[in-house]
Amino acid sequence: MLYATLKTLHLLAVVLWVGGMVFVLLFLRPALDQLAPPERLKLMREVLRRFFTAVAVALVVLVGSGLWMVGRTARALAGSGAAFTWPPDWVAMTVLGIGMALIFVFIRTVPYRRFVQALAGADLPAAAAALGVIRRWVAVNAVLGVVVIAVAALF
Ligand code: HEM
Repeated sequence: MLYATLKTLHLLAVVLWVGGMVFVLLFLRPALDQLAPPERLKLMREVLRRFFTAVAVALVVLVGSGLWMVGRTARALAGSGAAFTWPPDWVAMTVLGIGMALIFVFIRTVPYRRFVQALAGADLPAAAAALGVIRRWVAVNAVLGVVVIAVAALF
């Protein structure tokens, strides 16, 4: 029951993070062309502030629940005298998941901070440039997230 609960939390965190990135890239961003640049940038600041806070929580839940499930499986096998080896799909998920987490930390601490500061200083070109960097790295993470989901589900 505990394992199933953690797996549910793990999947909900995936839905929030990967689903949120797909929504922003494919649906929100193209629709922003309807707004003038200052409004567009301010709206993105508000959207990203809320989204990145939620992703930070989802990240802790995702990595915490994932590692806990690995540890619990290893303990259960050790208890029955069997050796534990990481299944290849779990290795891929862990490595790519940690890679995604590092990319998120970079986005949040470098271009996002630059974006907020530029907007506060009314430097719209610098804010737009920083937002472009955020968009590229979010796209990288969205692709990685879809790959991890496919690896987890297919193998
Ligand atoms: C440190 C990072 C991660 C670790 C240690 C980890 C570990 C695990 C473990 C142990 C399971 C349970 C597998 C089972 O019971 O069959 C699982 C399931 C799953 N994980 Fe992860 N995970 C991590 C990150 C991610 C990420 C970043 C994603 C997607 C973006 C992801 C997507 C999934 C999915 C979709 C499942 C369900 C697979 C299924 O039931 O077939 N995980 N993960």
